[in-house]
Amino acid sequence: MNAKHNIILVGFMGTGKTCVGKALAKTLGMDFLDMDEVIVAREGRPITDIFATDGEAYFRELERGLVRELSAQSGHVIATGGGIVLNPDNITDFERTGLVVCLRATPEAILERVRHDASRPLLHGGDKLRKIRDILETRQPLYDAIRNQVDTSPLTLSQVVDRITALYKETA
Ligand code: S3P
Repeated sequence: MNAKHNIILVGFMGTGKTCVGKALAKTLGMDFLDMDEVIVAREGRPITDIFATDGEAYFRELERGLVRELSAQSGHVIATGGGIVLNPDNITDFERTGLVVCLRATPEAILERVRHDASRPLLHGGDKLRKIRDILETRQPLYDAIRNQVDTSPLTLSQVVDRITALYKETA
């Protein structure tokens, strides 16, 4: 791996992947790319519609295809969707193509960030904090398996960016 390759941000919904990714890309002079945005643009419909009409499995296929495509490119900071870890091949491909960093946050901090946002079908209806905790519980081992972890809860945006920049330079 070298500095021309990608930085891939993974982590649960609301851990700040998009926000951190944009700031990081600006700092490092790289291109920012949000996988959810690419999928929405290509499908011409929001993620809630994709889930409602074609189901989660179809969305995961779209994600998988995009990971393969992006793994063949370089120079991007990539914000993934929170479920990217569900298929281990996605992480294997991304590890080959760049620095993979998992962002973490407490369930309460996640709730604060997602509570007024209806764009995430997996959190629709009912008790959002419970849903966050339940999904996190099943996914936690998958997030834990990522070598590079940054807990965003106690850090400012620029501290998170500094930390990832340092990791990137170490691996360059
Ligand atoms: C999902 C996270 C979402 C989006 C979709 C499914 C998940 O992305 O890909 O709603 O399974 O965790 P964000 O992590 O950007 O919210």
